[in-house]
Order: sequence, then C-alpha cells, then structure tokens
Amino acid sequence: MARVPRRGRSWVSETLTSVADTVARALEGVDLDAVRRQYWEQNEFVYLERWLPASLVDRMLAEVDRVRPAINRNYIPRHKKGGSVSFYTLTEQAPTIVALYRAPAFIEFLAALTGRPLQVCPPSDPHSCALYFYTEPGDHIGFHFDTSYYRGARYTVLLGLVERSSSRLVCQLFKNDPQRAPVELQLATHPGTLILFNGDKLWHSVTPLGEDEERVSLTLEYVTDPSMHPVKRLFSNLKDAFAYFGFRAVFRRPARA
Ligand SMILES: [Fe+2]
Repeated sequence: MARVPRRGRSWVSETLTSVADTVARALEGVDLDAVRRQYWEQNEFVYLERWLPASLVDRMLAEVDRVRPAINRNYIPRHKKGGSVSFYTLTEQAPTIVALYRAPAFIEFLAALTGRPLQVCPPSDPHSCALYFYTEPGDHIGFHFDTSYYRGARYTVLLGLVERSSSRLVCQLFKNDPQRAPVELQLATHPGTLILFNGDKLWHSVTPLGEDEERVSLTLEYVTDPSMHPVKRLFSNLKDAFAYFGFRAVFRRPARA
C-alpha cells in the first residue's frame, strides 16, 4: 500500500501550518452571525455551498486517490451500501485531510456556531475523520441520526469532495421537534461544500448512486466530551467494523496520530 513519502517532521508541520492558514483565511470571508442565525433557525443544521478553497480541495482530492486501495466496502441489506476509509488510514496517508480536521480556527468556528466547546475525538476512534466512497450503482445510506456514543454531544461536518452523481443528501429538519412541521432538503455535495449539524437532531440519508456515477465525501466528528463508557466503545467499534471499515481496520492498534 502506497504511503505518504517520509519527508520528516518539518514537512508534517508545514502541512498543518499551511492548512490552518488557508482555513483561517477562508473563514475571514464568512459572516459568522448570519451563518449562526441560520444554523439555529434550521434546528442546528447549516450548509455552506462550495466554501472550502479550491486549492485545498485539490490537495484533498489527491489524498482521496491515494487511499482508494484501502477502501473497505460494506453492504447492510435495506440500510447501507458503499465504501469507507478510516481515520487510521487517513492518519498515515492523508495529512491535508487530517490537518483540516484539527485546524484550530476551524474548530473555533464550529464551536462559535454551535455554542458548545467542541473537541476532536480521541485518536483511537476510526470514525472521527473518515471518507465515504459511493462508487457502485445503488450505493446509498438509509435515514438515520448520527447518534453519539460519547458522554458528550456529537456534531458532524460533511464536506463534499467528488460529486459526479445524481445522489442527494436528504435532510429532514425538525424531525425531533413536535412543534414544527418537518422540512426536507435534497442537497448535492459539490467539492468544498460544508454541512454542519447536531447528530441527534438531523434525520438524514443519501439516495442511491446511478450508473457510471461517483460521490466521495469526508465526515468529521466533533464532541463536547470525548470520554466514552467502555461498553459503548465496544458497541461503537463493532458498528464501525460491520458497517464501515472492517474488523481488521477497527481492531488493530491505531497508528501514532
Ligand atoms: Fe450520518
């Protein structure tokens, strides 16, 4: 399996610094108050169309291609079909993607929108930062919440990377609010489009991929308390092994992050 060429610590820290700078600059163009208002008006859901700069998207797309040999495919009848690459692989082979996940200005931005002190997940969580590959006809995922197994709340960021498909991210807002009529949105996740939501509040799915189509998105998970009861850790790992990354990937020791 191709790995990131070893160019020493300075190269890794250069990646971290350049990604953090790019994200900080991109955030300067965001009207924080307006986005925060929209986030709360939509029951803790917001999306920013083609927000991430193309230069950063291009670097991430190169990493998407690098990790393709590591895709693990799953099929759960009537719920999910598709491929995934875990945080463990991204740590070894996708420094730009991992740097975005950890960029301090990005996490501060998300915390300012949600009003919660957000943190990255522990490096032992294979789902904390992962790629979803929809590459075969019929690839999809059924409706679900992004339930938190952590002691704290869980927030999800989805970032579009490849969008050559008729698949749509279907979002049902206000699903958990008996006072409000549900609102349904069907979104294409174009490269650089960012979606943020509270995992307990957004009921969402991805519609089936058509022939000769492809869709790749990045998922980033942030939490308010990164501790987890050991039983829930086991349950979470089993779910990740069955539904996403495979047993070998989930139950091996994570690489040094
Ligand atoms: Fe989800």
